[in-house]
Amino acid sequence: MKKVSVISPANIAFIKYWGRADHNLYIPRNSSISMNISGCKTTTTIALSDKKEDEVYVKFFNQKYQQLNLNTRKAQALLKQIVRIRQISENKSKVKIFSENNFPADAGIASSASSFSALTAGLLLIYGLQDKFADKIELSRQIRLCGSGSAVRSAMDGFVEFTTGNDQTSHAVQIADQNHWDLVDIVALIDFDKKKISSSLGHELADTSPYFETRITEMQSRIKQCREAIIKKDLEKLGMAIEQDAISMHAVMMTSRPPAFYWQPGSMAIIQAIISLRESEKIPAYFTFDAGANAHIITEAKYLEKVNQYLQQIPFVKNTIINHPDLGVREINKHLF
Ligand code: DP6
Repeated sequence: MKKVSVISPANIAFIKYWGRADHNLYIPRNSSISMNISGCKTTTTIALSDKKEDEVYVKFFNQKYQQLNLNTRKAQALLKQIVRIRQISENKSKVKIFSENNFPADAGIASSASSFSALTAGLLLIYGLQDKFADKIELSRQIRLCGSGSAVRSAMDGFVEFTTGNDQTSHAVQIADQNHWDLVDIVALIDFDKKKISSSLGHELADTSPYFETRITEMQSRIKQCREAIIKKDLEKLGMAIEQDAISMHAVMMTSRPPAFYWQPGSMAIIQAIISLRESEKIPAYFTFDAGANAHIITEAKYLEKVNQYLQQIPFVKNTIINHPDLGVREINKHLF
Protein backbone atom coordinates (compact mmCIF):
# COMPACT_ATOMS: atom_id res chain seq x y z
CA MET A 1 0.00 0.00 0.00
CA LYS A 2 1.25 3.49 -0.87
CA LYS A 3 2.40 5.39 2.22
CA VAL A 4 3.73 8.90 2.87
CA SER A 5 5.14 10.60 5.95
CA VAL A 6 5.61 14.24 6.78
CA ILE A 7 6.90 16.27 9.69
CA SER A 8 5.77 19.77 10.55
CA PRO A 9 6.67 22.35 13.20
CA ALA A 10 4.38 24.38 15.40
CA ASN A 11 5.08 28.09 15.25
CA ILE A 12 4.99 31.02 17.63
CA ALA A 13 3.07 34.06 16.46
CA PHE A 14 4.85 37.41 16.92
CA ILE A 15 1.76 39.16 15.47
CA LYS A 16 -1.33 37.19 16.41
CA TYR A 17 -4.21 35.94 14.30
CA TRP A 18 -7.40 36.49 16.28
CA GLY A 19 -10.73 37.03 14.53
CA ARG A 20 -11.84 36.28 10.99
CA ALA A 21 -13.05 38.33 8.04
CA ASP A 22 -14.74 35.23 6.56
CA HIS A 23 -15.69 32.24 8.69
CA ASN A 24 -16.37 29.90 5.73
CA LEU A 25 -13.12 30.50 3.89
CA TYR A 26 -11.19 31.06 7.13
CA ILE A 27 -9.83 34.44 5.99
CA PRO A 28 -8.21 36.18 8.97
CA ARG A 29 -9.20 39.75 9.87
CA ASN A 30 -5.51 40.72 10.07
CA SER A 31 -2.19 39.45 8.77
CA SER A 32 -0.12 37.52 11.29
CA ILE A 33 3.61 36.75 11.54
CA SER A 34 5.40 33.81 13.16
CA MET A 35 8.54 31.76 13.53
CA ASN A 36 8.51 27.96 13.14
CA ILE A 37 9.74 26.29 16.31
CA SER A 38 12.13 23.35 16.25
CA GLY A 39 11.17 21.64 19.52
CA CYS A 40 7.43 21.19 18.93
CA LYS A 41 6.57 18.94 16.01
CA THR A 42 3.95 16.63 14.57
CA THR A 43 4.87 13.55 12.54
CA THR A 44 2.13 12.04 10.40
CA THR A 45 2.03 8.90 8.24
CA ILE A 46 -0.84 8.34 5.81
CA ALA A 47 -1.59 5.22 3.74
CA LEU A 48 -4.34 4.57 1.22
CA SER A 49 -6.68 1.90 2.55
CA ASP A 50 -9.26 -0.50 1.12
CA LYS A 51 -11.46 -0.14 4.23
CA LYS A 52 -14.92 1.44 4.03
CA GLU A 53 -14.09 4.22 6.50
CA ASP A 54 -11.16 6.52 7.14
CA GLU A 55 -9.19 5.61 10.27
CA VAL A 56 -7.29 8.16 12.33
CA TYR A 57 -5.05 7.30 15.28
CA VAL A 58 -3.37 9.98 17.36
CA LYS A 59 -0.73 9.96 20.05
CA PHE A 60 -0.59 12.96 22.32
CA PHE A 61 2.36 13.94 24.49
CA ASN A 62 3.20 11.20 27.02
CA GLN A 63 0.18 9.09 26.01
CA LYS A 64 -0.47 5.94 23.99
CA TYR A 65 -1.98 5.77 20.51
CA GLN A 66 -5.76 6.03 20.50
CA GLN A 67 -8.41 6.18 17.81
CA LEU A 68 -9.41 9.81 17.30
CA ASN A 69 -12.57 10.85 19.14
CA LEU A 70 -14.76 12.18 16.36
CA ASN A 71 -16.98 14.30 18.58
CA THR A 72 -14.63 17.25 18.82
CA ARG A 73 -14.56 20.33 16.61
CA LYS A 74 -10.95 19.62 15.64
CA ALA A 75 -11.77 16.04 14.58
CA GLN A 76 -14.69 17.27 12.45
CA ALA A 77 -12.38 19.79 10.76
CA LEU A 78 -9.87 17.01 10.13
CA LEU A 79 -12.49 14.73 8.53
CA LYS A 80 -13.76 17.59 6.36
CA GLN A 81 -10.23 18.19 5.12
CA ILE A 82 -9.82 14.50 4.20
CA VAL A 83 -13.10 14.53 2.24
CA ARG A 84 -12.28 17.84 0.53
CA ILE A 85 -8.82 16.78 -0.66
CA ARG A 86 -10.07 13.32 -1.72
CA GLN A 87 -12.68 15.06 -3.86
CA ILE A 88 -10.09 17.24 -5.59
CA SER A 89 -8.02 14.14 -6.38
CA GLU A 90 -10.93 12.01 -7.65
CA ASN A 91 -9.31 8.98 -5.99
CA LYS A 92 -12.01 7.30 -3.92
CA SER A 93 -9.75 5.29 -1.57
CA LYS A 94 -10.03 5.91 2.15
CA VAL A 95 -6.99 6.63 4.30
CA LYS A 96 -5.37 5.28 7.43
CA ILE A 97 -3.58 7.98 9.43
CA PHE A 98 -1.18 7.83 12.37
CA SER A 99 -0.11 11.13 13.89
CA GLU A 100 1.97 12.03 16.92
CA ASN A 101 3.07 15.19 18.72
CA ASN A 102 6.22 15.54 20.79
CA PHE A 103 4.76 18.35 22.97
CA PRO A 104 1.60 18.96 25.06
CA ALA A 105 -1.43 19.71 22.88
CA ASP A 106 -3.84 22.60 23.44
CA ALA A 107 -1.68 24.40 25.98
CA GLY A 108 -1.01 27.49 23.93
CA ILE A 109 1.64 25.93 21.69
CA ALA A 110 -0.46 26.10 18.51
CA SER A 111 -0.67 22.30 18.40
CA SER A 112 -3.04 22.47 15.49
CA ALA A 113 -0.45 24.44 13.52
CA SER A 114 1.83 21.42 13.28
CA SER A 115 -0.91 18.78 13.09
CA PHE A 116 -3.11 20.43 10.45
CA SER A 117 -0.18 21.46 8.26
CA ALA A 118 1.17 17.89 8.48
CA LEU A 119 -2.27 16.42 7.75
CA THR A 120 -2.86 18.62 4.70
CA ALA A 121 0.62 18.08 3.25
CA GLY A 122 0.32 14.31 3.78
CA LEU A 123 -3.13 14.16 2.17
CA LEU A 124 -1.98 16.11 -0.91
CA LEU A 125 0.96 13.72 -1.32
CA ILE A 126 -0.96 10.47 -0.79
CA TYR A 127 -3.73 11.54 -3.18
CA GLY A 128 -1.21 12.36 -5.92
CA LEU A 129 -1.58 16.14 -5.74
CA GLN A 130 2.21 16.70 -5.75
CA ASP A 131 1.89 20.02 -7.61
CA LYS A 132 -0.23 21.50 -4.85
CA PHE A 133 2.29 20.33 -2.26
CA ALA A 134 5.30 21.66 -4.17
CA ASP A 135 3.77 25.12 -4.68
CA LYS A 136 4.06 26.45 -1.12
CA ILE A 137 1.54 29.25 -1.69
CA GLU A 138 -1.03 26.74 -2.91
CA LEU A 139 -0.10 24.38 -0.07
CA SER A 140 -0.73 27.18 2.45
CA ARG A 141 -4.13 27.95 0.84
CA GLN A 142 -5.06 24.28 1.11
CA ILE A 143 -4.02 24.31 4.77
CA ARG A 144 -6.09 27.47 5.38
CA LEU A 145 -9.22 25.67 4.16
CA CYS A 146 -9.05 23.21 7.06
CA GLY A 147 -9.65 26.13 9.42
CA SER A 148 -6.41 26.37 11.37
CA GLY A 149 -4.85 29.74 10.61
CA SER A 150 -1.69 29.14 12.57
CA ALA A 151 -1.12 25.98 10.47
CA VAL A 152 -0.96 28.12 7.32
CA ARG A 153 2.30 29.65 8.57
CA SER A 154 3.95 26.21 8.96
CA ALA A 155 3.75 25.76 5.16
CA MET A 156 7.00 27.68 4.66
CA ASP A 157 10.46 27.75 6.29
CA GLY A 158 11.58 30.12 9.04
CA PHE A 159 9.75 33.42 9.56
CA VAL A 160 6.39 33.54 7.82
CA GLU A 161 3.49 35.95 7.34
CA PHE A 162 -0.11 34.79 6.80
CA THR A 163 -1.77 37.55 4.82
CA THR A 164 -5.37 38.63 5.05
CA GLY A 165 -7.13 39.16 1.72
CA ASN A 166 -9.48 37.01 -0.31
CA ASP A 167 -9.52 33.32 -1.21
CA GLN A 168 -6.68 33.83 -3.71
CA THR A 169 -4.55 36.31 -1.77
CA SER A 170 -4.86 35.02 1.80
CA HIS A 171 -1.90 32.65 2.14
CA ALA A 172 1.60 32.26 3.59
CA VAL A 173 4.51 34.48 2.50
CA GLN A 174 8.07 33.89 3.67
CA ILE A 175 9.81 36.84 5.35
CA ALA A 176 13.15 35.06 5.95
CA ASP A 177 14.36 31.46 6.16
CA GLN A 178 15.31 29.53 9.31
CA ASN A 179 19.02 30.43 9.04
CA HIS A 180 18.42 34.17 8.88
CA TRP A 181 18.47 34.92 12.62
CA ASP A 182 19.51 32.94 15.69
CA LEU A 183 16.41 33.73 17.72
CA VAL A 184 15.18 31.34 20.40
CA ASP A 185 11.73 30.76 21.78
CA ILE A 186 11.80 29.33 25.31
CA VAL A 187 8.38 27.96 26.20
CA ALA A 188 7.81 28.23 29.96
CA LEU A 189 5.23 25.57 30.82
CA ILE A 190 3.09 26.35 33.83
CA ASP A 191 -0.05 24.47 32.83
CA PHE A 192 -0.67 21.22 30.92
CA ASP A 193 -4.48 21.45 30.87
CA LYS A 194 -6.55 21.71 27.73
CA LYS A 195 -7.65 25.28 27.09
CA LYS A 196 -11.23 26.07 28.06
CA ILE A 197 -12.13 28.18 25.02
CA SER A 198 -10.75 26.86 21.75
CA SER A 199 -9.17 29.24 19.26
CA SER A 200 -11.84 28.40 16.67
CA LEU A 201 -14.56 29.57 19.08
CA GLY A 202 -12.39 32.53 20.08
CA HIS A 203 -12.21 33.73 16.45
CA GLU A 204 -16.01 33.91 16.45
CA LEU A 205 -16.11 35.76 19.78
CA ALA A 206 -13.51 38.37 18.79
CA ASP A 207 -16.12 40.58 17.08
CA THR A 208 -18.04 40.89 20.35
CA SER A 209 -15.21 42.81 22.04
CA PRO A 210 -15.67 46.60 21.91
CA TYR A 211 -11.88 46.82 21.51
CA PHE A 212 -11.57 44.51 18.49
CA GLU A 213 -11.79 47.22 15.81
CA THR A 214 -9.36 49.36 17.80
CA ARG A 215 -6.90 46.47 17.82
CA ILE A 216 -7.24 46.02 14.06
CA THR A 217 -6.50 49.73 13.50
CA GLU A 218 -3.64 50.11 15.96
CA MET A 219 -1.89 46.89 14.91
CA GLN A 220 -1.34 47.90 11.25
CA SER A 221 1.86 49.83 11.97
CA ARG A 222 2.98 47.00 14.28
CA ILE A 223 2.75 44.42 11.47
CA LYS A 224 5.15 46.57 9.42
CA GLN A 225 7.40 47.09 12.46
CA CYS A 226 7.57 43.33 13.04
CA ARG A 227 8.39 42.55 9.40
CA GLU A 228 11.15 45.18 9.38
CA ALA A 229 12.55 44.04 12.73
CA ILE A 230 12.91 40.48 11.42
CA ILE A 231 14.61 41.62 8.22
CA LYS A 232 17.02 43.91 10.10
CA LYS A 233 17.42 41.49 13.06
CA ASP A 234 16.46 44.26 15.46
CA LEU A 235 15.59 42.41 18.69
CA GLU A 236 14.39 45.41 20.68
CA LYS A 237 12.04 46.55 17.92
CA LEU A 238 10.74 42.99 17.48
CA GLY A 239 10.36 42.48 21.22
CA MET A 240 8.30 45.63 21.68
CA ALA A 241 6.03 44.60 18.79
CA ILE A 242 5.45 41.07 20.05
CA GLU A 243 4.69 42.11 23.63
CA GLN A 244 2.30 44.85 22.52
CA ASP A 245 0.56 42.46 20.18
CA ALA A 246 0.10 39.70 22.76
CA ILE A 247 -1.31 42.19 25.28
CA SER A 248 -3.62 43.67 22.63
CA MET A 249 -4.95 40.21 21.66
CA HIS A 250 -5.49 39.19 25.29
CA ALA A 251 -7.31 42.50 25.93
CA VAL A 252 -9.72 41.54 23.11
CA MET A 253 -10.09 38.03 24.56
CA MET A 254 -10.81 39.34 28.07
CA THR A 255 -13.37 41.84 26.79
CA SER A 256 -15.26 39.45 24.50
CA ARG A 257 -18.74 38.35 25.49
CA PRO A 258 -18.40 35.89 27.14
CA PRO A 259 -14.85 36.83 28.12
CA ALA A 260 -11.96 34.39 27.74
CA PHE A 261 -9.22 34.50 30.37
CA TYR A 262 -6.20 32.43 29.42
CA TRP A 263 -3.61 33.94 31.76
CA GLN A 264 -3.04 32.42 35.17
CA PRO A 265 -1.08 33.71 38.18
CA GLY A 266 2.01 32.00 36.73
CA SER A 267 1.59 33.90 33.46
CA MET A 268 1.63 37.24 35.32
CA ALA A 269 4.62 36.11 37.40
CA ILE A 270 6.56 35.43 34.17
CA ILE A 271 5.55 38.79 32.65
CA GLN A 272 6.85 40.61 35.72
CA ALA A 273 10.01 38.52 35.90
CA ILE A 274 10.87 39.17 32.23
CA ILE A 275 10.35 42.91 32.60
CA SER A 276 12.58 42.95 35.65
CA LEU A 277 15.24 40.83 33.86
CA ARG A 278 15.36 43.48 31.15
CA GLU A 279 15.55 46.32 33.61
CA SER A 280 18.03 44.92 36.13
CA GLU A 281 20.29 42.74 33.94
CA LYS A 282 19.82 44.49 30.58
CA ILE A 283 19.00 41.16 28.92
CA PRO A 284 16.74 41.64 25.89
CA ALA A 285 14.09 38.95 26.39
CA TYR A 286 10.40 39.41 25.54
CA PHE A 287 7.19 37.54 26.37
CA THR A 288 4.25 36.43 24.27
CA PHE A 289 1.27 34.13 24.87
CA ASP A 290 -1.08 32.35 22.46
CA ALA A 291 -4.51 31.18 23.63
CA GLY A 292 -3.11 29.64 26.78
CA ALA A 293 -1.32 30.31 30.05
CA ASN A 294 2.14 29.16 28.99
CA ALA A 295 4.62 31.88 28.11
CA HIS A 296 6.90 32.00 25.09
CA ILE A 297 10.05 33.99 25.78
CA ILE A 298 11.82 35.34 22.71
CA THR A 299 15.50 36.23 22.84
CA GLU A 300 18.73 35.67 20.90
CA ALA A 301 20.65 32.39 21.15
CA LYS A 302 23.54 34.09 23.00
CA TYR A 303 21.21 34.78 25.97
CA LEU A 304 19.56 31.34 25.91
CA GLU A 305 21.31 29.75 28.87
CA LYS A 306 20.90 32.72 31.17
CA VAL A 307 17.22 33.27 30.35
CA ASN A 308 16.42 29.56 30.58
CA GLN A 309 18.03 29.27 34.02
CA TYR A 310 16.24 32.39 35.15
CA LEU A 311 12.84 31.03 34.00
CA GLN A 312 13.40 27.70 35.73
CA GLN A 313 13.80 29.49 39.06
CA ILE A 314 10.29 30.92 38.87
CA PRO A 315 8.21 28.64 41.15
CA PHE A 316 5.26 28.38 38.68
CA VAL A 317 7.45 27.09 35.84
CA LYS A 318 7.26 23.28 35.62
CA ASN A 319 9.45 22.86 32.57
CA THR A 320 10.86 24.71 29.58
CA ILE A 321 11.06 23.76 25.90
CA ILE A 322 13.84 25.33 23.84
CA ASN A 323 13.15 26.17 20.22
CA HIS A 324 15.20 27.56 17.34
CA PRO A 325 13.82 28.73 13.97
CA ASP A 326 12.94 25.72 11.83
CA LEU A 327 11.97 24.49 8.38
CA GLY A 328 8.30 24.29 7.45
CA VAL A 329 6.37 21.11 6.70
CA ARG A 330 8.34 18.52 4.71
CA GLU A 331 8.25 14.92 3.53
CA ILE A 332 10.34 12.33 5.40
CA ASN A 333 11.25 8.69 4.71
CA LYS A 334 10.58 7.29 8.16
CA HIS A 335 7.04 5.92 8.56
CA LEU A 336 5.10 5.54 11.81
CA PHE A 337 3.54 2.18 10.75
C1 DP6 B 1 -3.89 32.61 19.58
O1 DP6 B 1 -7.23 29.06 14.42
O2 DP6 B 1 -4.76 28.65 14.23
O3 DP6 B 1 -2.57 30.95 18.51
O4 DP6 B 1 -6.16 25.99 15.33
O5 DP6 B 1 -6.31 26.26 17.82
O6 DP6 B 1 -4.12 26.69 16.67
P1 DP6 B 1 -5.62 26.67 16.57
O7 DP6 B 1 -6.00 28.13 16.33
P2 DP6 B 1 -5.91 29.01 15.07
O8 DP6 B 1 -5.65 30.41 15.80
C2 DP6 B 1 -4.43 30.69 16.39
C3 DP6 B 1 -4.63 31.65 17.49
C4 DP6 B 1 -3.41 32.06 18.25
C5 DP6 B 1 -2.61 33.15 17.55
C6 DP6 B 1 -1.78 32.75 16.39
O9 DP6 B 1 -1.17 31.67 16.39
O10 DP6 B 1 -1.68 33.57 15.45
